[in-house]
Amino acid sequence: MLQPAITGSGVFTPEQVITNDELVVAFNAYVDRYNAENADEIASGKIEAKAHSSSNFITSASGIEQRHVIDKDGILDPKTMHPLFAPRADDAPSLMAEMGVKACQQALDMAGKTASDVDTVLCAASNHERAYPAIAIEIQELLGIQGFGFDMNVACSSATFGIQAAADMIKSGSINSALVVNPEICSAHLEWRDRDCHFIFGDVATAVLLERADQAAGPYFAVKSTRCATAFSNNIRNNNGFLRRSHEQMEDRRDMQFMQNGRKVFKEVLPMVSRHIADHMADEDVQATDLKRLWLHQANKTMNDFIGKKVLGRTPEPHEQPNILQDYANTSSAGSIIAFAKYSKDMKDGDTGLICSFGAGYSVGSVILQKVG
Ligand code: COA
Repeated sequence: MLQPAITGSGVFTPEQVITNDELVVAFNAYVDRYNAENADEIASGKIEAKAHSSSNFITSASGIEQRHVIDKDGILDPKTMHPLFAPRADDAPSLMAEMGVKACQQALDMAGKTASDVDTVLCAASNHERAYPAIAIEIQELLGIQGFGFDMNVACSSATFGIQAAADMIKSGSINSALVVNPEICSAHLEWRDRDCHFIFGDVATAVLLERADQAAGPYFAVKSTRCATAFSNNIRNNNGFLRRSHEQMEDRRDMQFMQNGRKVFKEVLPMVSRHIADHMADEDVQATDLKRLWLHQANKTMNDFIGKKVLGRTPEPHEQPNILQDYANTSSAGSIIAFAKYSKDMKDGDTGLICSFGAGYSVGSVILQKVG
């Protein structure tokens, strides 16, 4: 069997940043407007007044301090409260493809490879801006890659599931290399007017290049083992599919965006992830003491701290379980790959690390890596 390896990684970070304080000022201005406009119905008890958000709550409940977004102005305008994207002609590159290409280019440069070395593009993300043609095929075209591409979606676990799919194709010999790219425009699916979740997400694109290890041009991470698991749950859901809704439902776009029962997610996903990682490590004979680094999904700092402690059997040192959540917020499938891309260059020959992502589905994916060179 051929040995797959990650030879390059890339992160495209949108320039615009929204701090918690800026977000809360805009949200509270929206709340004040809403409460003033609906004062009579609120006074008569017909509807409830909306409550203010707070920066302190956001930082302590989630660990998030800021997020990068594609369009800050629309999100922070209390009359708009969502990003505004200029419509693009069908023959112009789509936004996801444009972001994805930038991340892919970085991954190729790091690996010392070009588009002609790539056989496949997998666009693995939690939301795709259109049903078809696949964003992956557009990225393939923009980069000038021969071969094939396809889109896949396993919500926050899309990247690790994509890595398993690419690694398995390399192992079997059906391809020699693949770009797994994760453009996440989470800001377009978030309800910025919902106090319970308005702070959760940010935008980013990540990519990794997987190749046959014997074709790597420099140091690489051997993909020693991958494991995916799913169990159906409605606790994290986005109904924005292709089926027509009634006019009434279309008016209320809340049903068409990200929804979650955060407390249940906490309770149900944490044991699932901890058990998944423990079983994966045991089956591959990897001890906690062998693990130099954990690159975890970035949804909530408390969750990550809990998982890190369970896996290592002690509180991880910050460098052992790097968080990027404070700078990027939750970026869905891209989160663990941002952590990997930014905090893996110091790993030494023979060092072992583990990428793990988890989220809607429920889904959990883990990848055991060993540095070579
Ligand atoms: N500002 C101030 N207070 C807020 C607030 C805000 N923006 N949002 C909620 N609160 C209040 C609530 O009203 C509640 O008050 P009460 O105790 O008086 O009823 C209190 O804070 C706790 O709210 P809750 O929603 O239960 O918070 P939480 O501690 O569960 O944290 C999340 C919320 C979303 C950060 C957390 O549940 C989480 O991260 N869950 C998992 C998320 C996840 O992994 N999702 C996967 C997505 S891919």
